Amino acid sequence: MNIDYWIAHFRRNGIERPEPDWDAPLDLQGKRLAKLTRSIQQFQLGDGGGPAYLIAWNRESLLTSDPGIHTLVDLWFAEEVEHSRLLGVMLARLGGRPIDNHWSFGLFCGLRKWLGVGFELYALLLTEIVSHVYYKMLHRHGGDEALRGMCRLIIRDEAGHIAFHRARLASDGRHKGKRYGRLWEALFRLRGLTAGTVLWINHRGALVALGATDREFYSTIWRDMGKFIAGLREDVVRNLGADASLSIKQECKTEVC
Ligand SMILES: [Fe+2]
Ligand SMILES: [Fe+2]
Repeated sequence: MNIDYWIAHFRRNGIERPEPDWDAPLDLQGKRLAKLTRSIQQFQLGDGGGPAYLIAWNRESLLTSDPGIHTLVDLWFAEEVEHSRLLGVMLARLGGRPIDNHWSFGLFCGLRKWLGVGFELYALLLTEIVSHVYYKMLHRHGGDEALRGMCRLIIRDEAGHIAFHRARLASDGRHKGKRYGRLWEALFRLRGLTAGTVLWINHRGALVALGATDREFYSTIWRDMGKFIAGLREDVVRNLGADASLSIKQECKTEVC
């Protein structure tokens, strides 16, 4: 993988980040406000608010595999910490208080810790794909200016994270002769649907209250997984850096950034 390209990407992404308009009038009340507050509370913990780093028992095997990889992982997780900050300000705007544990986050961290760094990277990637859909739906249905501004920043960052994982897996595919065939795809989609369902169990109330639907959520995560798989298979045989950069720009253009 072109580590220098990705380090430059993360540094570039750290500039021109307009702060959401936190002082804009808040037009949310009643059940919609209460459900959104609970949802943001959980995301504030899960998206960079807990142990915002690799926590697998064997993470050193990845971190010491290349001199630049440590820096790259640091930059990736620094963006996750920034998501937690943004979500924390949003939570305060909604009148909510931060939480320090939740069953789904505890389970997520336990699996990452004990099942090793290979599992952890896949778990983080799939969580990023389904969370990306959550933020896109929140942006589409949220109706609050500060919420939309926050979503725009996080959607942009997560598009980069997903493209980074794609580049990583493509590089792995080229070096180890992996083809990412149908069996891999079935397993990938199954794990993605599981991650998506856990997210939906916890956040459906808020998104549906804002006007989203079950069909919208599941069809979007299915489509986004399909886009990821198709892009990965192309990247295995094509120029990595240029394609990844293009994919981030296309994602931002067609979505909301
Ligand atoms: Fe994040
Ligand atoms: Fe991320």
